[in-house]
Amino acid sequence: MKILVTGGVGYIGSHTLVELSQAGYDFVVYDNLVNSSKIAIDRVYKIIGKDISFEEGDIRDTKRLKEIFAKYDIDSVIHFAGLKAVGESVEKPLYYYDNNVTGTIKLLEIMKEFNCKNIVFSSSATVYGEPKKVPITEDAQTGIGITNPYGRSKYFIEEILKDLYKSDDKWKIAILRYFNPIGAHESSLIGEDPNGIPNNLMPYISQVAVGKLKELQVFGDDYDTKDGTGVRDYIHVVDLAEAHVKALEYLNSQEKLDKPLIVNLGTGKGYSVLELVKTFEKVSKVKVSYNITTRRAGDIAILYANPKKAKDLLGWEAKRDIEQMCRDSWNWQRGNKK
Ligand code: NAD
Ligand code: UD1
Repeated sequence: MKILVTGGVGYIGSHTLVELSQAGYDFVVYDNLVNSSKIAIDRVYKIIGKDISFEEGDIRDTKRLKEIFAKYDIDSVIHFAGLKAVGESVEKPLYYYDNNVTGTIKLLEIMKEFNCKNIVFSSSATVYGEPKKVPITEDAQTGIGITNPYGRSKYFIEEILKDLYKSDDKWKIAILRYFNPIGAHESSLIGEDPNGIPNNLMPYISQVAVGKLKELQVFGDDYDTKDGTGVRDYIHVVDLAEAHVKALEYLNSQEKLDKPLIVNLGTGKGYSVLELVKTFEKVSKVKVSYNITTRRAGDIAILYANPKKAKDLLGWEAKRDIEQMCRDSWNWQRGNKK
């Protein structure tokens, strides 16, 4: 039995392959490489020392997906494949909805055809929109106040998965709402490698530190937070990867679910932009120049998770602290200057 890992060449997917392998799972990776490079597969091979089944293909390509399901004995899917650039999604909403939403529907259709009804889906804390209170729990309202098509594509997919379960309760579905993944594998062989100028804070900080970018623009210091800058729940990507193994174990341990499992994956701690900059400077011993500028459209002041449900149900909690996140991001960045 194999696990199909869609988008497994990407940032979170590649780290999850390492954890799956270490937990003894067998998998096949399916990715169209639109936002990743096959080099990551070679790097994962270096870490795990085992051959990796890789199949290039798009989740919207049902013919290709059928071939994959016919070729391998797949009993579960971890579904990372998706586009994730918020700004680009505003410019190209149809492209985002087609790739993320239509792509997921096609994947689910083929899964159904091959009677494979276990899926772990990469969702995002962005589905909460502007939260009424923090730390946020999974029963908080979703879908209201999401500011971009990327975020809405995640919300729509969550709703589709819930409807699918209602139509057939043999589906075992885990929806994982990631907070802000940062860091890299401690080997520095794999990590986050964004195309062009990064949109997210940590890759921006590390590229300033390595001299690739001049200075960080801090988007606003007038929020109602400890130092006025935005607060987020940063989570080490290896902790996040471990949670996927736990989610899969959970699905396998249950004969049936009474509804899709929805869990937050965060640390439960919020750090401000300036706290992240200071921690990065401390562990790297490199100064990160920054300039305070205006707020970024669509940003919220503060968001962090209540991660209790993941602990109670999956027996998972984040172990790696903010210093380790910064250290591993830095080590990855300076080893991969490009
Ligand atoms: P990533 O871009 O590094 O990885 C996504 C992978 O999916 C890439 O390798 C890409 O080539 C592949 N892909 C995209 N569209 C595809 C398609 N149509 N067919 C086949 N492969 C396709 O992103 P990531 O950070 O590893 O994110 C993984 C998942 O987690 C995504 O669904 C993303 O939306 C979600 N997520 C990410 C974050 C984050 O901050 N990184 C936060 C919340 C949720
Ligand atoms: C963003 C996306 C969210 C997505 C997540 C992970 C928006 C509005 N939200 O979330 O949909 O799921 O990334 O991909 O884009 N910051 C700066 N300067 C920068 C970059 C960021 O000050 O150059 C600040 C932001 O204002 C925020 C914090 O850093 O306060 C974190 O930003 P970011 O890494 O982009 O993540 P989110 O905004 O949480």
